[in-house]
Amino acid sequence: MPKPILRINGLEKSFGALKATNGVTLDLYPGEIHALIGPNGAGKSTLIKQIVGEIRPDAGSIDFEGQPIDRLDAADRARIGLARTFQVSQIAPELSAVRNVMLAVEAREGRVFRFFRPVSRDLDLIAAAMAFLHDAGLGERAAIHAADLSHGERRQLEFAMALALKPKVFLMDEPMAGLSPDGSKRMTAFLSELRHTAPILLVEHDMEAVFALADRISVLVYGQVIATGTVADIRANPEVRTAYLGDEAA
Ligand SMILES: Nc1ncnc2c1ncn2[C@@H]1O[C@H](COP(=O)(O)OP(=O)(O)OP(=O)(O)O)[C@@H](O)[C@H]1O
Ligand SMILES: [Mg+2]
Repeated sequence: MPKPILRINGLEKSFGALKATNGVTLDLYPGEIHALIGPNGAGKSTLIKQIVGEIRPDAGSIDFEGQPIDRLDAADRARIGLARTFQVSQIAPELSAVRNVMLAVEAREGRVFRFFRPVSRDLDLIAAAMAFLHDAGLGERAAIHAADLSHGERRQLEFAMALALKPKVFLMDEPMAGLSPDGSKRMTAFLSELRHTAPILLVEHDMEAVFALADRISVLVYGQVIATGTVADIRANPEVRTAYLGDEAA
């Protein structure tokens, strides 16, 4: 058994009297898609925010590649390869798709983007950005302003930007949200390939996508993991069916 790349140990986070994360323990292994499912308000986004360092836990710890990262801030965690993917807010709508990806390449390299530099001279940067766009299936739309891309194409742009950041794990909070059925299918195919680049912790309500993609599923209810297992385990788990899946699992 390989070692987990990400290990979350007994994380706790309260908002006033509400225990949004109530002792969560879970692992992410190299090569896997580990889906995190659960009803609205279960604490999924709060957990992701604690992993990326946006929210400080009250208790518990997080190890990344065998090292505790609890003292690192969000910027340091991003630098070591632990960043959230699919953040619409990271896209600059007034810039072309390729320039958006160039921003991500430079962010990864720790350089500051200089708007006044003649972009045409920076061929290495353009070539790198084009390669990521191509991998995301958006190569032919490189010159289009991000604002003029369709919703699905913007997801592909986010995907190219995520690749450019070269994360060691992908943390995704509902990448399928707002996509058409076709868009979801394309995204499912993307994610299935992406797991070979880096493992994915996938928060997602789209159960068709989760069942198609997940190597393992953890079910979060009221801030607690009530089950972890394979798709078959989770579909057959009576407690999970009552708490979350309902008729969908039938
Ligand atoms: N900053 C905050 N202050 C107070 N309460 C919060 C805060 N953030 C989240 N909560 C509460 O914590 C609980 C967990 O929220 P969270 O957003 O993590 O749920 P979720 O599982 O991501 O839900 P959804 O599936 O709807 O996205 C909810 O009851 C929410 O209202
Ligand atoms: Mg959420």
